[in-house]
Amino acid sequence: KGVGRRWSRDRDRFLARQIEAGDHATGVSAVTRFFRLSMQSLILGLGAWLAIEHLASVGVMFAATFMLGRALQPIEQLVGNWRGVISARSAYLHITDTLAAQPPERELMDLPRPKGKVQFEGVHYGLPNTAKFILRAISFQLAAGEALGVVGPSGAGKSTLMRLLVGVVRPTSGSVRLDGADLHTWASGALGRHIGYLPQDIELFSDTVAANISRFGENADSEVVRAAELAGVHELILRLPQGYNTQIGDGGAAISGGLRQRIGLARAVFGTPSLLVLDEPSSNLDAEGDGALTHCIATLKQLGTTVVIVSHRSATLIGVDRIMLLRDGTIEAIGPRDAVAGKLLPARSPAAAGGPA
Ligand SMILES: Nc1ncnc2c1ncn2[C@@H]1O[C@H](COP(=O)(O)OP(=O)(O)OP(=O)(O)O)[C@@H](O)[C@H]1O
Ligand SMILES: [Mg+2]
Repeated sequence: KGVGRRWSRDRDRFLARQIEAGDHATGVSAVTRFFRLSMQSLILGLGAWLAIEHLASVGVMFAATFMLGRALQPIEQLVGNWRGVISARSAYLHITDTLAAQPPERELMDLPRPKGKVQFEGVHYGLPNTAKFILRAISFQLAAGEALGVVGPSGAGKSTLMRLLVGVVRPTSGSVRLDGADLHTWASGALGRHIGYLPQDIELFSDTVAANISRFGENADSEVVRAAELAGVHELILRLPQGYNTQIGDGGAAISGGLRQRIGLARAVFGTPSLLVLDEPSSNLDAEGDGALTHCIATLKQLGTTVVIVSHRSATLIGVDRIMLLRDGTIEAIGPRDAVAGKLLPARSPAAAGGPA
């Protein structure tokens, strides 16, 4: 009902504006028409008078009238198409603004495949045009092949930290480094190959399962199967109506939330990245999915991948080496898993630890 009211209000406004615009347009074109016709009549009259006085021939009179008509035509056309001119102008300004806001990507050097060492150095992050920081003074290091669990209350800034870690957003100050090089000195295409990311709100493309896992890479069939096996989702995919060629629908609407999450995990581990970042990977998983996730993390760790996982579930955090507790945008504690978990878990109610996030 509320939506309907809003819609009809906006529609009424739109119609009123349109009528107003129509009135203006009619007025303007009537004026230009009047102007053209009176000029033509005037010239015709003047010519007739000159012809009668034998100062000009009848031919000159007609020629002058025609020429005037031709000369005025472009002006009238300009008035008629003014709306097009205006919208072209605003479109042009829009494009230049957008391009100015996003400077062209510099030609960046292709660095060798990173080992996975991560450094945060005094990172502050705030949204553009706000004074408040979402994250403050974040400094920590991860050795290559280390696994870190990130915990903290809702709104602490965990997802924001993950976005900084994968280079989706830039720190307001400080730097995030992968193998010692600031993330923004990497070419984004190359960085994408080395970092696997499963965001909290998974976005899948309305395409096949295989295309989603390979991120539209070509000739990657064996790699796709490998990634699915790593994520423990290969068998589940084979059971879909068309296996790997199943269309997953708009944003993954045709498959269940749990499967979506596991396909997202397969996409994140595709190509065995040097750094794997998982934001609430188990929020929709059943016990079997939990097991597959734990196994996947352990395997990647063995292959030397650095893993960062945000999770509320202690089951998901079994395989991590260290845990970071984030609160109000700062690191409240970071240390060996058992030490931090020991401080943390008794205070947590069983529902919060086991239930979906
Ligand atoms: N694009 C944004 N616009 C406005 N506020 C934002 C934006 N991104 C993050 N925030 C704010 O930053 C804070 C941290 O958000 P973030 O999503 O990182 O929290 P979180 O720890 O991941 O929470 P959750 O456990 O609920 O996922 C929140 O208060 C949120 O409102
Ligand atoms: Mg989050």
